[in-house]
Formats: sequence, C-alpha cells, structure tokens
Amino acid sequence: MTSRTLICNPLYLPVISVPDKLRMNDPRIIVALDFPDSMSALNLVARLDPSLCRLKVGKELFTAAGPQLVETMMGKGFEIFLDLKFHDIPTTVANACRTAAALGVWMMNVHALGGRRMLAAAREAVTPGTARLIAVTLLTSMDQSDLDEVGLKGEPQDVVQRLASLTRDCGLDGVVCSALEASRLRKAMGADFCLVTPGIRPADSSPDEQRRISTPRQAIENGSDYLVIGRPITQATEPVEMLSRLNKDIEDIRDVSHFDNF
Ligand code: C5P
Repeated sequence: MTSRTLICNPLYLPVISVPDKLRMNDPRIIVALDFPDSMSALNLVARLDPSLCRLKVGKELFTAAGPQLVETMMGKGFEIFLDLKFHDIPTTVANACRTAAALGVWMMNVHALGGRRMLAAAREAVTPGTARLIAVTLLTSMDQSDLDEVGLKGEPQDVVQRLASLTRDCGLDGVVCSALEASRLRKAMGADFCLVTPGIRPADSSPDEQRRISTPRQAIENGSDYLVIGRPITQATEPVEMLSRLNKDIEDIRDVSHFDNF
C-alpha cells in the first residue's frame, strides 16, 4: 500500500491524493511490539499496514532502539503508542511527557499511582488535543493477592475505579484498563474518556501470564476504544492473518465508538 490514497472526485475534477493521516480511519488494534531489538520489530512492521493497526513501543524495545526506531515507524505512516508508563516525581514525568510529545507520538502513558501532582504535571506538559495522554490504573497481570501484598486497599475493581477517577480529575484523556473493567468505567467516566485495553486473547489462545483477559469482541462491546494485542499477533505463524481475523471479529461493532471526537 502506498502512503497516499487516491480519492475520485464525483464532479470529474482532477483526481487528488490525500495523505494517509487524513483518511477516515481509526484502527482499534494496537500491536504491542515487545521485541528485543529494532530488526525483529521492523521485520514484523514491514508486513503490517497503518490502516489495519497502530503500534505500541514499550520499555524493552525503546530501551534497545530508542526514539530513532519510533521515528522510522512514524515515517512508514504508523501511529505510535509510547508505552513507557512514566512514574517519578512530577517534574521528571512532565519533562519526559513533553519530550515524548515533541517526538510526535500518537499516545503516551503514565502510572496513575504516581498521584495527583504527578498526573497534573504530565497534563500540563502535553497540550490537550495533541498526543493522547492516558494513565495505567492497575496492571492486568495483578490480582487480589498482589494488591494485598503491596498494601493497596480494596478489590482490583475498586482500585481501578479510584485511579480512573483521579486520572479524569487531573484532565488526562483516559486509562489503560482490563476489558472486565471497561463497562463499569465507561458508565462512570462518560463517553469521551478513552479506554485502552490490554490482556486481549482470541478465544482459542493461551492467556500467557495475563490474569484478567477477554476476547477482542467482548472488550469492544464492554466499551473499550482501543485494544493492545501483543503475543497473539507477534508470535502467530501468520501475524497478518491473525490481525485481519481479529479486526474482522470487531468490524461490525466498530460503529459504537465512544472516542471519535478527539
Ligand atoms: O502479549 P500481550 O498481548 O500480553 O501484551 C500486552 C501488552 O500490553 C504488553 O506490552 C504489556 O506491557 C502491556 N500492558 C499490559 N497490562 C497493562 C498495561 C500494559 O499487559 N495494564
């Protein structure tokens, strides 16, 4: 696919071409590029298409390959979720967020557990309406025993709700949450709050270490806007077929989007 799309004009004026960014296209699947080096990531990316997915760069790949790889992938037309889950003193997090926004990423995140002042500083550093700024509430790998052990009060759903409310109060655009929490959060947080959901597994695949998992369809039906999917796609024998299958699974419910007004 080329990086520009031809549009036919019904008045028979000359055919124009429109940059891909202007296409009415909002892929819901974000492929988690959890690779140890840029070559492995780029091998997969070469087979993907920006109209079918966005890409997530997390700690492992970013530590290995840095901003240069992010720029390379943006140059191929992909929108990037920079998943570095910043969690530090407010000034440090604000500066990191400002730097990520200047890189031109589509989405970035911080840990809501960093607290109100850290979240507010992050918001101040990223102009609303530019890069989406979201917060991680609770990692989907954590369950009640993990919460008890680290001393977080309440059940996972209460902790998630508390952290999501704090995130919204601080003006951030949304949260990362499990699909099982999405319907409750959608009701509580309203239509414009962005819900990004990892822990997604096709019905027939392994949960790996994820504890609170769901199928893509369930997640979208529960109110998630975007699905972060890693190993089911990256480790598939045919990653592109798997991505198409997962997109197909949700295409007839895409119209219930809750977050189209960004
Ligand atoms: O391979 P898998 O689909 O489990 O990958 C999930 C991705 O989502 C990983 O990159 C992981 O770091 C990320 N993630 C998560 N749970 C969160 C936030 C992010 O699994 N709460």
